[in-house]
Amino acid sequence: MSKGDHRVLTGFGNHHASEAAAGALPVGRNSPQQVPYGLYAEQFSATAFTAPRHENQRSWFYRLRPTADHPPYRPYARESRLRSAPFGERPASPNRLRWNPLQMPTEATDFVDGLVSYAGNGDVAAGFGCAVHLYAANRSMTDRAFFSADGELLIVPQSGRLRIVTEQGVLIVPPLHIALIPRGIRIRAELLDGAARGYVCENYGAPFRLPDLGPIGANGLANPRDFEAPAASYEDVERPCELIQKFQGQLWATMVPQSPFDVVAWHGNISPYRYDLSRFNVINTVSFDHPDPSIFTVLTSPSDRTGVANVDFVVFPPRWMVAEDTFRPPWFHRNVMSEFMGLVQGEYDAKAGGFLPGGASLHNCMASHGPDVDSYRRAVSAELNPQKIEGSMAFMFESRYAFRPTEWAMETSLLQSDYDACWSGFRKAELPGIEGRGA
Ligand SMILES: [Fe+2]
Repeated sequence: MSKGDHRVLTGFGNHHASEAAAGALPVGRNSPQQVPYGLYAEQFSATAFTAPRHENQRSWFYRLRPTADHPPYRPYARESRLRSAPFGERPASPNRLRWNPLQMPTEATDFVDGLVSYAGNGDVAAGFGCAVHLYAANRSMTDRAFFSADGELLIVPQSGRLRIVTEQGVLIVPPLHIALIPRGIRIRAELLDGAARGYVCENYGAPFRLPDLGPIGANGLANPRDFEAPAASYEDVERPCELIQKFQGQLWATMVPQSPFDVVAWHGNISPYRYDLSRFNVINTVSFDHPDPSIFTVLTSPSDRTGVANVDFVVFPPRWMVAEDTFRPPWFHRNVMSEFMGLVQGEYDAKAGGFLPGGASLHNCMASHGPDVDSYRRAVSAELNPQKIEGSMAFMFESRYAFRPTEWAMETSLLQSDYDACWSGFRKAELPGIEGRGA
């Protein structure tokens, strides 16, 4: 039995209040001597109690049973391809890496067992860095719930709609949307289209927030009102549920006798969110040269150095290209930040092929990259009329820390052995009438 619905509460970081049963939410206090209906009050803290007010995140849950009532966790029995920082299976690679799309599983596989780690950085114990996982699943999670005690989960569906049941309510998350699941919040991922594939950034560092806008002003990029938190919704299901958690890099599991999604009411400023990427207000040049891709930042996890992200989530959405006398695709560059890219749909304007929806690429710190030969040739001879990039959605997890690929990522046949070749064959620039210079 499920009580509540798919209503949403809008506004990133707002102090929301929601109840799935009238009168379930205590008024004027968090922990009254007797909670309405005999519900149990539980505080969920996403930041230290003493974090500054503008960073402090906590919510209060009112639930059928306290979550403390559970037997010990045991090591998760099934094989998992989930890996965690510190990533030491393979040396960090200075090479440019690209993978073909992750294949759908042939055996029954749900979201948790369908996760496979490609790369990561930082240290889960020290609380910095992130991991990049992809998932491919063909079964809904049934009587299973999952949470990561190591980091929040930024989920980027590539194909197949997810119905994500969370403790705070239900989010429907189709491709071209993202879901943000706070560290520690339990979820059950159901597949509304029979199969699903996508990307996950597990952020060990400071929670994702909206970037500062500086001279852009008070509006633009991802606007706070477009982030949707679920309204309270609960299950009153007395059936055993396997509760799986990722803790300090390892998976653990325990059995609880009922659905853990039993929060009847909640209030506070930490919750899961859904965001529709089509609502991203794209800002770009209207004169010449395109700005740095930081202009496409949806969410940022700051580090202890101002302006240097633990990890940024950046999108390349449909947009008009109008720059005059400009090489319009991404330019050649070497970047101190490390870039893990994925593609939800369409084509990315720096690549004429090989980077496919469901695929991935990694350009680590100082790796030379940019347009491939074909994209370059097209761009330098293109007529510079206003042009709309349509039907495309590439994205990037960009981090100050180099990504270390997992053994799986380096061994899989999905890894393209010929990726470097897309940058070979550029004609040498020639200076007319000057011979022997530098000889
Ligand atoms: Fe790049």
